Amino acid sequence: MNAQDLIDTVQMLLAADKGLLAMDESNPTCNKRFAKLGIPQTEEARRAYRELIVTTPRLGECISGVILYDETNRQQKKDGTSFVKVITDAGIIPGIKVDTGAKDMAGHPKEKITEGLDGLRVRLKEYFQMGARFAKWRAVITVGDGIPSQGCIEANAQALSSYAALCQEIGLVPVVEPEVLMDGDHTLERCSKVTHEVLHTVFNQLYTQRVTLEAMILKPNMVVPGLACPKQQAVDEIADATVRCLLQVVPAAVGGIAFLSGGQSCTLASERLNAMNLRFKSRLPWGLAFSFARAIQQPAMDIWLGKENNVSAAQQALYHRARCNQAARRGEYNAAMERP
Ligand code: 13P
Repeated sequence: MNAQDLIDTVQMLLAADKGLLAMDESNPTCNKRFAKLGIPQTEEARRAYRELIVTTPRLGECISGVILYDETNRQQKKDGTSFVKVITDAGIIPGIKVDTGAKDMAGHPKEKITEGLDGLRVRLKEYFQMGARFAKWRAVITVGDGIPSQGCIEANAQALSSYAALCQEIGLVPVVEPEVLMDGDHTLERCSKVTHEVLHTVFNQLYTQRVTLEAMILKPNMVVPGLACPKQQAVDEIADATVRCLLQVVPAAVGGIAFLSGGQSCTLASERLNAMNLRFKSRLPWGLAFSFARAIQQPAMDIWLGKENNVSAAQQALYHRARCNQAARRGEYNAAMERP
């Protein structure tokens, strides 16, 4: 590996005020979102939807990298141009999700372990040859009665670190995503405690497995109360809790941070990212960016509904969300941006 190439890629991905667009839903996840809207759950519908996204005019103004799923990585536009070429021509760096999903963890009821390490070196080489320059692996941590367990946190941290080390060997920037889920009625304080513990364990493992921190991106959850928690703190409190937690456990050397959205509404995700940058940007050792899927895509999918006639309006909605989050990176997002 050439560490400087990786560090250059990190800098391009987090340059200025741009961020990442996650469009790497697995087929089952993509189908589930289509089913809710009555969109056919077919390979052609998924292809058409991904074509809509990657051909969105001016997407490259706000998005530096997109994360693809294996199927999308091998698909083309209707005219035969590969999606990877379309993305690269738009000045966007292609990335790829390389885990094979979160599965029930043996001996750990209600907890998940992410799989995909077997044969990973070979797959990473193929993705690199196909044009990918960064990769993503998502670990899932559930908060509940007596969970997460130490066993689940440690097993996921080890897998994330093995993946990250392999990526760097091949020349791909690892995006390390340990997601503490928002499902449940846990408090902000509980989320903060769990996130702290998870990140601490992940960085211990990254260190043990000799991952170069400057050449990786952390993709964490924001520190938020569970979706069913009766007490939902104000935007500034979420921003404070998130930044405080990150400052305690994320080494200054880390190349950058790009949050997942995790099921927050689009506007809340933008408001919270904005508050963090507005209040803390000049005092942080790393940039705070976004790597959202739902919080960028959902309005576009709701408009598209699988219909060719809706493509242009859906693309405008996608571009709008990307631009709002770009403004949030600068701490310049405000409610007026949401008015038609
Ligand atoms: P959300 O922003 O929808 O949480 O997705 C981010 C992601 O990439 C999940 O792996």
